[in-house]
Amino acid sequence: MLDVEIRSVIMDNIFTMPKKLSWLHLSDFHYSEKIASTWELSRGLFFNDINRLLEKEKVGPWDIVFFTGDLVGHGKKEEFDKLNDELTILWDNLPPKSDGKKPILLCVPGNHDLKRPDEKMKKSAIYKAFKRWNEDPDVSEIFWESDDNDYRGLVNDAFANYDDWLKSCRFLPPDGIVRGSIPGDFSYSTEINGIKLGVIGLNSAFLHLDDVELGELALHGRQILRVAGDIDKFCAKHDINILLTNPSPRSMASQ
Ligand SMILES: [Fe+2]
Repeated sequence: MLDVEIRSVIMDNIFTMPKKLSWLHLSDFHYSEKIASTWELSRGLFFNDINRLLEKEKVGPWDIVFFTGDLVGHGKKEEFDKLNDELTILWDNLPPKSDGKKPILLCVPGNHDLKRPDEKMKKSAIYKAFKRWNEDPDVSEIFWESDDNDYRGLVNDAFANYDDWLKSCRFLPPDGIVRGSIPGDFSYSTEINGIKLGVIGLNSAFLHLDDVELGELALHGRQILRVAGDIDKFCAKHDINILLTNPSPRSMASQ
């Protein structure tokens, strides 16, 4: 249900003390009413794991929590409200860093974080045209040529609850996030413990308004351009660069 990965990066040279950047990677929580009772029963096991990592593996405290999508089950507002409650419990249990602050959250949406179109919308001309993304190059061309077109409207509506949650989320860094042109895209540059870090997060689920086949999702260079500008220059500014997306590469179109 909830995938967890932990990482610590230690940068060292003979002239300086080792510099350490540590993160906790969560993914695919899929919080919904359906799994609420199961989660209530298993939350303790999750925190046992967190405590084991901290006490036995000595990997904390973490500087960042990455959450790579599918935070909730169906993109509903009530689910995001409950997600806030769960994140509050998590943050209460995460140890503070040496400066006394708690980790920051950086996240991207997955295909479960959007609200799927209803039956009426699915019959609309604009939705049917948007579904032809992989057959008709005009669709993607119109989608990317401006921030204000009917296809963008579909995607913005689908991710509206995610976007609202994100705007009010108190675990994100207070400033420094550069938002992109579609909901969920961002870049963030920071320095932690003397390590310059660049993070780019991309919405890789914007074509997943309904069921899709493997290879039908897409990312576009314009998403990166919008949040980070010249990617070579962006990467050159940092010691470490991290790209966050949700789906497996098998889901993405080859081009
Ligand atoms: Fe998932």
